[in-house]
Amino acid sequence: EKGGWSSFMAKEVAEQPEAVANTIRGRIRGDQVVIPELDGLDELFIGINRIIITACGTAAYSALVGKYAIEQWARIPVDVELAHEFRYRDPVIGDDTLVISISQSGETMDTLMAVKYARERGARTLSICNTQGATIPRESDAVVYTHAGPEVAVASTKAFSAQITALLLLGLHMGRVRGSVQDASVDVAELTALPEKIAKVLESEQEHVTQLAGWMADTRSVLFLGRHVGFPIALEGALKLKEISYIHAEGFAAGELKHGPIALIEPGQPVFVLVPSPRHSAVVHSKVVSNIQEIRARGARVIVVAEEGDAAVLPFADEVIRIPLAGAMFEPLLAVVPLQIFAMALATAKGLDVDQPRNLAKSVTVE
Ligand code: M6R
Repeated sequence: EKGGWSSFMAKEVAEQPEAVANTIRGRIRGDQVVIPELDGLDELFIGINRIIITACGTAAYSALVGKYAIEQWARIPVDVELAHEFRYRDPVIGDDTLVISISQSGETMDTLMAVKYARERGARTLSICNTQGATIPRESDAVVYTHAGPEVAVASTKAFSAQITALLLLGLHMGRVRGSVQDASVDVAELTALPEKIAKVLESEQEHVTQLAGWMADTRSVLFLGRHVGFPIALEGALKLKEISYIHAEGFAAGELKHGPIALIEPGQPVFVLVPSPRHSAVVHSKVVSNIQEIRARGARVIVVAEEGDAAVLPFADEVIRIPLAGAMFEPLLAVVPLQIFAMALATAKGLDVDQPRNLAKSVTVE
C-alpha cells in the first residue's frame, strides 16, 4: 500500500535509509563484515582468479559500483556484463570464475539464462536478489539477499541502493576471506553511518531538487557526468529520467567529454555533474572541476552534486546539491538520491504516472 505517499516510487525513495539498514543488519561482526548466508562457503572466493557480474538495467549499474569495491577490497579482477550480451558470445569462464548475478525480482529472463549458462560452463555462481525464493537464487550456488522490501514502482530505487549495499558487504566479506582486508573498521563505520546520511539527503534536498525539476519541465535533454564510482551513478540518473519522464538523457564518464560528448553542449543544455570528494583524490576532483569549467564555458547549465563544504565547484555551478561526507565507495548511495528525486519530480511536473511508465514492465520475464 502507498500509505500517504503520492506514488509507490515516492514511498520507495523515502524508504532507502531503511532498505540499506535492513540489508546491513546481521552482517557485521565486531569490526568485520561476515555474511552468515556465506558461512562455510569460503571456497567460492578462494582459488578464483576472476569475477563477472551480470545483470540488466539498474541492477547492472549497481554492478559497476560493485566492480570498484570488490577490486579494491578483494583484489580480484571484476568485469561487468549485461546478461543478454554475456550469454550470446563465447565467454572465457570455468571453475576459476565466480559469476555474480544481481536482480531485484530474481525473475529477469536474461539474467536467469546468463546464470544457467555460467553454471553449465562450470563457473561458481552467487546471486544478489531482493525476492526470497525467486528463480535466480534457486539456480545459484549461493545467495545474498537484499532486504529492501517489496518494490512496486517500475523504476527501481530502493532496490538499487540495497544492491550497492550488498555489493559493498560482499567486497568486504570476500576481502576478509581472501586475506586482503585485515582491518575493516573504517569501512564498517562508513556502512553503518549510511542510513542516517541518506535520510539527511532526503530531508535537505527534496524541496530544492523538486523545485529545480519544476523549472525544467520543458527540458528536452539532460546529460549526466560522473567519474570513478560516480560514472555508474550518472548512468543511473539518466536511466531514471528516461524511464519515467520520457526525456532524452545520457550518462557519460566525465573523462570522455573531450572524446565526443562535449560536442553536444550548447547554451542552456542542462548537465548534472557528480563531483567526487577532493578528500578521496585531489587529482580526480580537480579533473572533474575542469570538466565543469569546460562545459560552463560553452553555455551548459551546470547542476552539481558535491559534498558539503566543497567550495571549488561554486564559481562554475548554476545549482549545487549537497551530500554529506562519505568514503569513496559509499558516496554513490548518497549521490543517487537527488537524481531519483529529480526524475520523479520532473515526471510529476509533466503530469505523468511515475509508477507505471509507458512500455515498461516491472520485471522482464521474456528475452
Ligand atoms: O528485477 P531485475 O533487477 O532483474 O530487473 C532488471 C531491470 O529490468 C530493472 O532494473 C530495470 O532497468 C528498472 N526498470 C530500472 O529502473
